[in-house]
Amino acid sequence: MQPEFIIIHQQVAPYVAHIQLNRPKELNALNLQLMGELRDALKLLDADDQVRAIVLSGNEKAFAAGADIKQMAEKSAIDMFNTDQFSTWDTIKKTKKPIIAAVSGFALGGGCELMMLCDMIVASETARFGQPEIKLGVMPGAGGTQRLTRAVGKALAMEMVLTGRFITAQEALQAGLINRVVPVELFLQEAIKLAGEVAAMAPLAVKMAKEAVLKAFDTTLDEGLHFERKNFYLLFASADQKEGMQAFMEKRTPDFKGQ
Ligand code: CAA
Repeated sequence: MQPEFIIIHQQVAPYVAHIQLNRPKELNALNLQLMGELRDALKLLDADDQVRAIVLSGNEKAFAAGADIKQMAEKSAIDMFNTDQFSTWDTIKKTKKPIIAAVSGFALGGGCELMMLCDMIVASETARFGQPEIKLGVMPGAGGTQRLTRAVGKALAMEMVLTGRFITAQEALQAGLINRVVPVELFLQEAIKLAGEVAAMAPLAVKMAKEAVLKAFDTTLDEGLHFERKNFYLLFASADQKEGMQAFMEKRTPDFKGQ
């Protein structure tokens, strides 16, 4: 069945797929159906040999303005528990291929949290980031207190989470939340270009390197180093390691096959 709230664009650059959130009238508010469609699309692309990196965007006005408030407003705690809306997020987190967020306009609440689930973030000058849940009488529920704090540190995270203040793209760049800021007309193009650079690398090495970097967030230094070393050694079982090192010695561009 065709998804209703996302659009999948294949091969926007060699080995790069692009998923666009597409509920423009609602500023891409993340309802349950949209998140389910996104989870399914990422699973498919993660298993597709023709895809090596994924770009996730909204539109110029909004990446996503958060979880769908209208869908949550009347729910009880037990409804929320039973719906378990964040289990889709747990699956998305398991995506092995890198995801590059292309953000313009609002990235708020669940939108900011979804963006932080991505591996790199290219933002337009008009991007605004925030965790405004506090203004709704709640708090972030999809990683906002954890990933934001790890990315920007306690001082700014606390201010954003407790006051709901939005920060600009320049502030986000300075705080280390995002990778780069570009003029609005270029945000998608730049994200695709960055994804293309990653997609030109050895796919197995990319997946294992992503896994190892993410490990740094939830383990000790010793365990993280041990994990890194195992992945490093494991890559010597790949044909791409032989090809990459041979190509270096022959002064040519490697032809990586993902094996
Ligand atoms: N959920 C549902 N609908 C939303 C929405 C959301 N998060 N954000 C925007 N919309 C809808 C609006 O209700 C409006 O719909 P109608 O035309 O039917 O009224 C439409 O999108 C356009 O929005 P606005 O008219 O409000 O546009 P604006 O330009 O005046 O303001 C905005 C933009 C500042 C982003 C404002 O829409 C806003 O504050 N949105 C809510 C942001 C928010 O609080 N996000 C957190 C949600 S909770 C959460 O995400 C929990 C979590 O941790 C997972």
